[in-house]
Amino acid sequence: MAENNPFPGENNTGHVWDDNLRELKNPPPRWWMMGFWASILFVIGYSLLYPTWPVGQEPTQGVLGWTQMKEYEKGMEQVESKRAKFEDRIRGMSANEILADPGLTQYTLASAKVLFGDNCSACHGSGGQGNPGYPVLADDDWLYGGGTAKITESITGGRQGAMTPHQTILTETEVDTLANWVVQMSETAGQGGSDEGWTLFKSKGCTACHGQEANGILVALPNGDVVTVGAANLTDGIWRFEPGGYESARHTILYGVNQSGVPESRGAVMPAFAEAGKLSEQEIKKLVVYVHSLGGGR
Ligand code: HEC
Ligand code: HEC
Repeated sequence: MAENNPFPGENNTGHVWDDNLRELKNPPPRWWMMGFWASILFVIGYSLLYPTWPVGQEPTQGVLGWTQMKEYEKGMEQVESKRAKFEDRIRGMSANEILADPGLTQYTLASAKVLFGDNCSACHGSGGQGNPGYPVLADDDWLYGGGTAKITESITGGRQGAMTPHQTILTETEVDTLANWVVQMSETAGQGGSDEGWTLFKSKGCTACHGQEANGILVALPNGDVVTVGAANLTDGIWRFEPGGYESARHTILYGVNQSGVPESRGAVMPAFAEAGKLSEQEIKKLVVYVHSLGGGR
């Protein structure tokens, strides 16, 4: 072929088409070749160090012994060791002490948010804003008290307020007067209840649970704690049971709350989380900090 090369002396391969179209022997640029060899070396190096070639079920192992699983476990260990520092400190502290430490409070809130979502939000709403028939936790209106001790009791032992049904105790007119009085009270922040209503409220045993002032507090202790039996505060605009208003109040007065023999009675059961073994002491402590920071107080 070379002897027939119409372009002798040219750096071509001797392949010629259409009289003058020929293939030249130009090597790729030097930088390109260096990249080419470097990438081959890289593949060899990499495949020695890391798992690479599929051989049977498993890839070759690589001399570093690296696996994705080990990498993940190492990452988790780091997370755990960071968490362990906080968890250990919290273990020795009370909820009040945690609340006094902004850093620990922040950690506890983040961790409790998940617990609250898993255990509490079905009833109390994802931010503690309540659901129909379930109390709001994100306000400072408390049935049992919003101090850390009371919140701990609520979560640990559960709550089940009880109210006597009055369908046989009161006349129809008395129920009507009281239901109207409850509405007046809720609309006027406890200032505008009728005199007849107040008289019945005080003479028919309501004060035994709802307190002399109808705010649900039996005794307010000097340290800010309150003694209650979980009876609703009737002096605020917050309705504990749906839909609120006259009919709702009348229904509660007639049939009471948590009365097993009265099918129409209101149900209000907060499960006991410690008894059920659902939450550890540490988890309950975190939830107390969480609930308290939603709307803790008296
Ligand atoms: C099955 C529904 C349900 C679940 C789940 C539930 N609660 Fe409750 N919770 C209630 C009810 C109902 C009440 C009111 C009880 C009553 O009226 O006597 C209540 C009351 C409370 C109270 C007292 C409120 C007050 O005003 O004094 C706190 C605090 C509380 N819950 C926190 C929690 C936390 C924290 C969780 C999750 C660990 C939780 N609850 C899970 C239904 C529930
Ligand atoms: C044995 C205690 C007890 C007595 C007596 C009692 N209550 Fe109650 N009352 C409660 C409890 C507990 C609740 C509901 C608390 C809860 O679970 O949220 C309640 C709730 C209510 C509600 C519902 C409020 C709302 O926001 O939906 C009304 C209205 C009410 N009571 C009125 C009365 C009246 C009027 C009397 C007197 C005739 C009375 N109660 C007597 C314990 C009592």
